[in-house]
Amino acid sequence: MEKTAETPFEATAGEDLAHLAENADLLCCPACGGDLQVRGGALACLKCGHSFKCEKRIASLFWPNQWDKARGDVTEIEQSFYERNPFPNYDDTDSVATLVDKARAGIFAHLLDQQVPARATILEVGCGTGQLSNFLASSSRARTVFGADLSLSSLKLGEAFRRAHQINNLTFCQMNLFRPAFKAGGFDLVISNGVLHHTSDPRAAFASIARLVRPRGFIAIGLYNVLGRLPTDARRLLLRMLGDRFAILDPRLRSPELNAARRRAWFLDQYKNPHESKHSFGEVLGWFDTAGFEFMSSIPASDGAAVDSAYRLFEAHPRGSALDRLAVQLRMLLEGGKDGGLFVMIGRNGGHQAGD
Ligand SMILES: C[S@@+](CC[C@H](N)C(=O)[O-])C[C@H]1O[C@@H](n2cnc3c(N)ncnc32)[C@H](O)[C@@H]1O
Repeated sequence: MEKTAETPFEATAGEDLAHLAENADLLCCPACGGDLQVRGGALACLKCGHSFKCEKRIASLFWPNQWDKARGDVTEIEQSFYERNPFPNYDDTDSVATLVDKARAGIFAHLLDQQVPARATILEVGCGTGQLSNFLASSSRARTVFGADLSLSSLKLGEAFRRAHQINNLTFCQMNLFRPAFKAGGFDLVISNGVLHHTSDPRAAFASIARLVRPRGFIAIGLYNVLGRLPTDARRLLLRMLGDRFAILDPRLRSPELNAARRRAWFLDQYKNPHESKHSFGEVLGWFDTAGFEFMSSIPASDGAAVDSAYRLFEAHPRGSALDRLAVQLRMLLEGGKDGGLFVMIGRNGGHQAGD
């Protein structure tokens, strides 16, 4: 029988958890930090004894924040939003080939795939429905890829695609990025695109996932920009005043290429999200400096240079002056805030092992 996205998850636990078992040394208990071991279809903590189930090949490693109430926490609110609205979802006809075509149409995924080494160990934090994880894992089967997200319904869609296309070098995990289920310093590359701005403390969220990068490894984060996001903010305000039928003002919602599920996912994510914040190039450079990361590159380039297929994501570029960065952000605004006003910044761990 040909495998499809609807194929039931029928494989046995032993067979299914091979990738997780092979890479168990990357994992840790999100409750106590102890080592985890695959045992009888679950992950067992060798320190505190907690057992985490792995149903349908998705490891359930979510652990809540145990913060002081005064600090405020939107994790549960965002989790419930994305459980109901998996993002970005798949088109009905998606296959590895269409995923590759779509990813390559976007400069970030295209450059990543070309420049991330064939044997890299990659973690995508806040992978949503797992397109990028599936894409990076399928284009080099020697890569080791983990995709982690709060939303189980999103992960199930990513897992269905993975299973249908037998991308066996990828495992999806349900995880809260403030309580990572991965050891510090384990990954060559940590990616988090469009995620940290949906947390109550993006700076702390950055620090939490930056710890997972190995010395000299890389982090890539995508965030809503303080100026680039203004066109979306303006449309959201109009929708509130005039009604949701004016969603047609959003260029992506007019695109005939999206199916109904993807259109709905984009509309809710952009216009009905319970929480988002906006950030600047200068602010993220400050996060890099504090965490001991060197600035490598950004999309758009923070010094105003062109980003084309020859742009090297993992080589050091000039940061640009404060004036250059302001001009780049103004250009994002004037160009209508493409991609929801997202910008991506890439940094290299200057050599510190977390905890040094
Ligand atoms: C806008 S979606 C981005 C999905 C994907 N990265 C993309 O670019 O298409 C934001 C994702 O962040 C996840 N998320 C939000 N807070 C999180 C947290 N504390 N830990 C893990 N994932 C989180 C949500 O569940 C959601 O899937």
